[in-house]
Amino acid sequence: MTPPIPLIDVRAAQESLHHEISEAVERVLRSGRFVQGAEVARFEERFASYCEAKFAIAVDSGTAALHLALLACCLRAGDEVLTSPFTFVATGTAILHAAMRPAFSDILPDTLTLDPDRIEAALTSRTRAVVPVHLFGRIAEMERIRAIAERRGLFVIEDACQAHGARRGARTAGAWGHATVFSFYPSKNLSAIGDGGIVVTDDEKTAAEVRLRRDHGRTSKYEHGVLGWNYRMDEVQAAALSVKLDHLDRWNRQRQDLAGRYHERLSNLPLQLPPPSSDAVWHLYVVRTPRRDALRAHLDRRGIETGIHYPCPLHRMPVFSDLGYEEGRFPEAERAAREVLSLPLYPQLGAGGVDRIASEVRAFFA
Ligand SMILES: Cc1ncc(COP(=O)(O)O)c(C=O)c1O
Repeated sequence: MTPPIPLIDVRAAQESLHHEISEAVERVLRSGRFVQGAEVARFEERFASYCEAKFAIAVDSGTAALHLALLACCLRAGDEVLTSPFTFVATGTAILHAAMRPAFSDILPDTLTLDPDRIEAALTSRTRAVVPVHLFGRIAEMERIRAIAERRGLFVIEDACQAHGARRGARTAGAWGHATVFSFYPSKNLSAIGDGGIVVTDDEKTAAEVRLRRDHGRTSKYEHGVLGWNYRMDEVQAAALSVKLDHLDRWNRQRQDLAGRYHERLSNLPLQLPPPSSDAVWHLYVVRTPRRDALRAHLDRRGIETGIHYPCPLHRMPVFSDLGYEEGRFPEAERAAREVLSLPLYPQLGAGGVDRIASEVRAFFA
């Protein structure tokens, strides 16, 4: 009996560093400081340097990071923020949390990131920011998106929640926008042992504003000048993240090798493969076929777990229904939602895992 293959194996990643992470957790327990202390400060410094940015401000989720990054850009309630309709729900709900109005614009059919050719038509006089999503570990078309933003006076906030360490040419994720947000949810390429997130920026004022608002807007223990939240990061998460950061580039290279192997093994099938990229960090390996559900059932019967990221584009979710986008408005996002299938991908999957999955996919199409 061949063992089942999970879509993501969080436990396997954890096990390889069990000793180091346990030591880090132990250190926190002994310190008696559990929230936003020296471990958080150390991780912030290291992550800023990893992203080649001046400041990094840790929070307790990617959603909180985006919420605060939007507020820190001094956008006002009711301002419009343009983003992709094909992303995790939190990209859009963070805009709602900030009392702003999400606006969507369609995606490119191959990379599934914002289509720069469609952005300008989606801007209105109220649009103040663009949030490109570096989906599945691939940086969006940032040269063109930045050029549009500069011309139209918009802030750019990168949603790099799936793209820790991704590059586009000489620049890393976090080096394109006014601010960039990352998530450390356990399935991410760089993950906490719980929830976590971070805002990265070169702008001192933005950094100060995020710092203020993540901790109740406090200027001293009981002085609160602005509305803030409790979005602080735990020390345990920062300590674990510091351990894992040392391994991120190696894991990303392993993901890259596995994606390359999928590409070889799955070529010449009636299956759309993600475009090759040596710069992406391959958070997910997402293929496309109109026969998605049948392929998924076939793999499931053979013990191979797959995922659908994402089955419903944001503009068709009830939570965004007030925005009034009708079905058919973003055909590429809607088609992607019907066709995408995420195959297992994580460093510990190994070449043998990819080979087994690829041969089952080939058997389906044979
Ligand atoms: C693209 C994207 N944006 C935002 C988020 C939100 O991050 P978190 O789950 O840490 O709040 C995620 C995480 O799943 C994500 O994938």
